[in-house]
Amino acid sequence: MTKTKAIVFTSYGPADVLRLADIDLPVPGPGQVRLAVRCAGVNPIDHRIRSGAMGAAAPVDLPHVPGVEASGLVEAVGEGVMGVQAGDAVLGRTATGAYAEQALAEAEELMVKPLSLPWEEAAALPVAAETAWRALNLLSLNEGETLLIHGAAGGVGTLAVQFARARDVRVVGTASEFNHEYLRGLGAIPVAYGEGLADRVREAAPGGVDAALDAVGKGDAVGVSVELTGGPERVVSIADPEGARRHGARFSVGGPTSQTVPALTAALALHEAGILQLPIHRIYPLDEAAEAHRASEHGHLTGKIVIAVA
Ligand SMILES: NC(=O)c1ccc[n+]([C@@H]2O[C@H](COP(=O)([O-])OP(=O)(O)OC[C@H]3O[C@@H](n4cnc5c(N)ncnc54)[C@H](OP(=O)(O)O)[C@@H]3O)[C@@H](O)[C@H]2O)c1
Repeated sequence: MTKTKAIVFTSYGPADVLRLADIDLPVPGPGQVRLAVRCAGVNPIDHRIRSGAMGAAAPVDLPHVPGVEASGLVEAVGEGVMGVQAGDAVLGRTATGAYAEQALAEAEELMVKPLSLPWEEAAALPVAAETAWRALNLLSLNEGETLLIHGAAGGVGTLAVQFARARDVRVVGTASEFNHEYLRGLGAIPVAYGEGLADRVREAAPGGVDAALDAVGKGDAVGVSVELTGGPERVVSIADPEGARRHGARFSVGGPTSQTVPALTAALALHEAGILQLPIHRIYPLDEAAEAHRASEHGHLTGKIVIAVA
């Protein structure tokens, strides 16, 4: 069988377990395509699976190739695929590990990549856009309302701020001082996280907070959100299932509720209008995936980390 290069780990552990290896070339099943990957987005879930922290919540077979999103060229299509063909430049979530020269994706979850969108930004978009879109939809935001976003400078936060601003929602976003200018540029009012957060948010939004998104899962973001919005009904966490349960708020995960296509459609419309911002914190070559994971684990990013494969 033909081989392809990929980053694999054969046991859970620190970033050092990641190795460049030859794996079998994946063959697209019905409804799938094989991509020649150009770039892969790096997400916190990648290092949590690798370290074993996800446990039974995200079981994987070992050896495992990390990565759940990519940009690339369609090079082979499976049975029944419509809408994309060999040679198309696309972006989307992947069905097999994206830290690889070749990966599989469900054709109906892919979008054609606009020529003007760089490969690295295209690879960084699917998870952040889908998660932000899904979470904001759960919050049923109305024009003129105020939304608090915890972790506004990260990948998901960056898209959530822009989707909310596009709906004429006022956004207060938490980040370290380093990212405050960045948040202002996205159209959010920045506040520092940590001790005294609720008071700082009240000062930034004297008219009150209508809804909140916890995109960070640290420092009782859910509890502070419930306090500020006056109840758990319009608080969603994507990062703290235990905190959400404790406070009676909603926790949202992807999977069957995935909204990749509408989310990417909305993000690409912002790109088309020339207003999408998705800074790439840093790009690593494929054989430096371990370094990319260490940077992701450090966690203080502006935007997204990307692995350039080709
Ligand atoms: N449930 C789902 O479907 C789903 C999907 C995607 C992601 N997630 C989860 O959502 C979280 C965010 O994902 P992501 O991709 O956006 O992560 P990311 O890009 O790694 O986000 C890191 C951001 O968090 C900020 N941050 C760190 N500590 C903070 C704190 N105490 N308060 C506020 N901000 C803080 C950092 O800002 P500073 O540098 O300014 O500190 C940085 O910008 C992760 O836990 C991820 O696993 C869940």
